[in-house]
Amino acid sequence: MKVGIIGAGTMGSGIAQTFAQCDAVETVYLCDIKQEFADGGKAKIQKGLDKRVAKGKMDQAAADKLIGKIQTGLNGICTDADLIVEAALEVMDIKKACFKDLQDNIVKNPDCIFASNTSSLSITEIGAGLAKPIIGMHFFNPAPVMKLVEVIAGINTPAETVEKVKDIAVQLGKTPVQVNEAAGFVVNRILVPMINEGIFVYSEGIADIEGIDTAMKLGCNHPMGPLELGDYIGLDIVLAIMDVLYKETGDSKYRACPLLRKMVRGKKLGCKTGIGFYDYSNGGKVPVDKK
Ligand code: CAA
Repeated sequence: MKVGIIGAGTMGSGIAQTFAQCDAVETVYLCDIKQEFADGGKAKIQKGLDKRVAKGKMDQAAADKLIGKIQTGLNGICTDADLIVEAALEVMDIKKACFKDLQDNIVKNPDCIFASNTSSLSITEIGAGLAKPIIGMHFFNPAPVMKLVEVIAGINTPAETVEKVKDIAVQLGKTPVQVNEAAGFVVNRILVPMINEGIFVYSEGIADIEGIDTAMKLGCNHPMGPLELGDYIGLDIVLAIMDVLYKETGDSKYRACPLLRKMVRGKKLGCKTGIGFYDYSNGGKVPVDKK
């Protein structure tokens, strides 16, 4: 199987690694709008593999085999792909334009499946106007580690495509869960309002940053507290999902916390900008209310 991944950011590169470590996959095309972005995604994968080799968790030959399957470039290299997984920006018009270009100008294989890793946008709307149906294939960060893939059918997605994508997820060593199309699907519908609530709890002065995260880690056995998880996902993504939940449902229970919006406007997005609820400068992790 040959797989094209559109977008070489955190999710795109993690998804590319996930496919490259699967025996059934011979080539992964890791694509972005600039060659340097695609190369950057591959370099990130290489860095992670080097660490695993250094720790003795993977042998060099396996790491070389995995990285050798990944070819980088612009979307145009996906001509013979059997599956495309789009992990571009969470902007409807970008996703629609990207699939239209793939369908009209790039992909020559008529059986190629078009999947989107969107975290909350409508699969039906992404596919509107295309001859080819779209399916949701939603991975979780870090994609090589997290076991779940949400598989989402839009109104026009054939049942056969759903079954094929569930099979592919199993081949990747993941557990697929089929989800009906709805804003946020299952995980983000539950998880992101929880993170948003954590931000309200902080902004109301109920506990400090570390206190909130420690409470949820020790009180609920979550691997990360809501504020550090928000930083990890990216506070811009958290806000975008809250806004989709609110817009799609009109329900005020999904209103984004004003502090979240303010932080995003101030580019305090979490790990990716080096500061969010924690300051990650110099490889550290210090709660910003303790600085
Ligand atoms: N890529 C590849 N492997 C990674 C990785 C990455 N980015 N990050 C961690 N790992 C691997 C490590 O190499 C390690 O593997 P080994 O056990 O084989 O050595 C393993 O994961 C555990 O990592 P660590 O020991 O470094 O750290 P940890 O035990 O604290 O686990 C974690 C890290 C897996 C991220 C854990 O903290 C966790 O599960 N956090 C919650 C993550 C979560 O909720 N993700 C979902 C976010 S929501 C989302 O993604 C959807 C969306 O649409 C927004």
